[in-house]
Amino acid sequence: MANLVSTWSKTAQTLPENYIFPADQRPGSFEIPLCQNIPVIDLSASHSKTVQEILHACQEFGFFQVINHGVSKDIIDDTMEVVKEFFNMPDEEKEIYYSIDPIKRCKVYTSGYDYANEDIHFWRDNLRHPCHPLDEWVHLWPEKPTNYRDVVGKYSLEVRKLSLRMLELIREGLGLEPGYFGEELTGDQLLSINHYPRCPNPSLTLGLPKHADADIMTVLFQGSVNGLQVFKDGQWLGVEPLPHAFVVNIGHQLQIISNGKLRSAEHRAVTNSREARTTIVSFISPCPDTIVEPAKSVIDTGVPRFRPFKFKDFFKFYEEKKRDPEAVLEFYKIKP
Ligand code: OGA
Ligand code: NI
Repeated sequence: MANLVSTWSKTAQTLPENYIFPADQRPGSFEIPLCQNIPVIDLSASHSKTVQEILHACQEFGFFQVINHGVSKDIIDDTMEVVKEFFNMPDEEKEIYYSIDPIKRCKVYTSGYDYANEDIHFWRDNLRHPCHPLDEWVHLWPEKPTNYRDVVGKYSLEVRKLSLRMLELIREGLGLEPGYFGEELTGDQLLSINHYPRCPNPSLTLGLPKHADADIMTVLFQGSVNGLQVFKDGQWLGVEPLPHAFVVNIGHQLQIISNGKLRSAEHRAVTNSREARTTIVSFISPCPDTIVEPAKSVIDTGVPRFRPFKFKDFFKFYEEKKRDPEAVLEFYKIKP
């Protein structure tokens, strides 16, 4: 049975008990200061400046925002509109796509990966599907709203292009050989639409608990509603929504490839009682059988800090560890 928050919470006056997080994980007051110091990078600036700024942002924060990125505002606006429309459709239209089958790659579900066995649920619904190569997957995407495939298809291609462009800047900054981020390392692109309905008690629950992403690079559009927070130096910082800007963060794979030079920062999503929040997230990941390891040219001290693995094995372990970055990276660390 579908148990989407967007369905049953329409009439919920109070937060159900199984959505209440332990005291030390609760967001407390929603009024966390919006962070002015997460770097905002202008991609229309000079090449050498952007290489330097992106590398610095990935070392310090693992997070940055990009403006003047070349993705058309119309495509971004149309995509936000169509994904919101999806979640506003009548329940039975959304529920056609509902599945808890871990193998199924195109689906709608709620909370985390294992709803039945979770102690606490997250206040979010999610629609996700692969999008690269587009021709291979688009026939599995939602048929309604009727322009979903067309609009989201264009968005996925543009965001992929932007992601590869930013990876190229990082490649240069790290001094990796040309072509390093080829199809093997970037061949999987997943589009994930998070929908966080209005919440009766945002101070007790989370849309997404603290985690780091398993991929290479995540590109997120959060519209105009804030809720994304980054954990930096023991503190939560809110990421300010900027018009048509993308929030970019690097995942575990890039931390490992860079031999720990770049960081995959922990982050979470909080909810609010005023309005629903919808975010569009693109994850670029290696193909399942790709072997990932620290790049030879980055290991300047001659000591690799992580052991090689197949991406699919890493991902399985990541899910088992409930996305706890310390536990996941620790497992792949080479002990001195
Ligand atoms: C994610 C994520 C944050 C948000 O989907 O991995 O961190 O604000 N999303 O939706
Ligand atoms: Ni994330």
